[in-house]
Amino acid sequence: MIKIENEYINFPKKVKENNYKKQNHQPRSIHNPNRTKTHKLNLGLSSPIVNNTMKKIDTGIEGFNKLLYGGLPKGRAYLVSGEPGTGKTMFSLQFLLTGVRQGEKAIYITIDERPEHIILDAEALGWDIQPYLNDGRLQIIDATKHFSTAKNKNFDVKKIVTDIIGYVETSKATRLAIDPIAPLIFSDDAFPDVVEYIRNLIFSIENNTGCTTLLTSYVPMGSEKVSSIGIEEFAASGIIVLKLVKLNNKRIRTIGVRKMRGTRIDLTEYSFEILEKRGVVLRQPI
Ligand SMILES: Nc1ncnc2c1ncn2[C@@H]1O[C@H](COP(=O)(O)OP(=O)(O)O)[C@@H](O)[C@H]1O
Ligand SMILES: [Mg+2]
Repeated sequence: MIKIENEYINFPKKVKENNYKKQNHQPRSIHNPNRTKTHKLNLGLSSPIVNNTMKKIDTGIEGFNKLLYGGLPKGRAYLVSGEPGTGKTMFSLQFLLTGVRQGEKAIYITIDERPEHIILDAEALGWDIQPYLNDGRLQIIDATKHFSTAKNKNFDVKKIVTDIIGYVETSKATRLAIDPIAPLIFSDDAFPDVVEYIRNLIFSIENNTGCTTLLTSYVPMGSEKVSSIGIEEFAASGIIVLKLVKLNNKRIRTIGVRKMRGTRIDLTEYSFEILEKRGVVLRQPI
């Protein structure tokens, strides 16, 4: 039996409704007089902001940790940006599976694609994810329905944020992927909601879950942007950019780290391949 949640809104009620309110619209500025108070309210001792030594986690992407001088700083939210087909979904799954194989719990929230497709894609790549789905170490949450109705103005941003936080807390997941973060980007009507949703989601996840999170963000074909509307890139703690570029009449995949709070980074872009079983594998600098 594949463990898939078909309804998005079936999270336990013990979700901390207040977490959302406490930090709603608190910009992360040192000039914000409420900043200290907000963080005291929301952050535990394990918070990356409280700790001076930043713990790093293995991304599981072959050759990628060295660009981050060891791995991704734990407990923060990162943007994985790229055009369609650049490998964002595979990258995110690989990140989650790496944790799961090391005994962690992981949650993948799919907003664009049906969970069945995600599972088939993973299996086509030679990743046997069924055992992890069966024992609940990996959960794929289907949010496709929820977001397809979002265009009908019934889009409850606060509920989405609190539900995601609650779900992560209940399951004790340490790795989370939301793929993609802003599905309503091209709907002008929904613009204010999307901005609010992204900002609150990122701040709430970072301050309340301790989970290391990847948020995928699609950019239009041929665009030099790293995010759809610009909010994600400021709110996220780091940006990983995936591209398909033309080199000598061939299209090659590239990966680069654009920004990463709390660690040195190697800004060099590397070519990469998506290989059977191994997934995303970095090759040489370009
Ligand atoms: N089984 C596979 N073997 C090799 N490459 C694959 C396999 N599955 C997917 N890919 C590559 O990954 C690409 C899609 O990656 P994906 O993570 O779905 O992109 P994105 O989420 O950015 O749209 C495909 O275009 C294909 O080139
Ligand atoms: Mg995808």
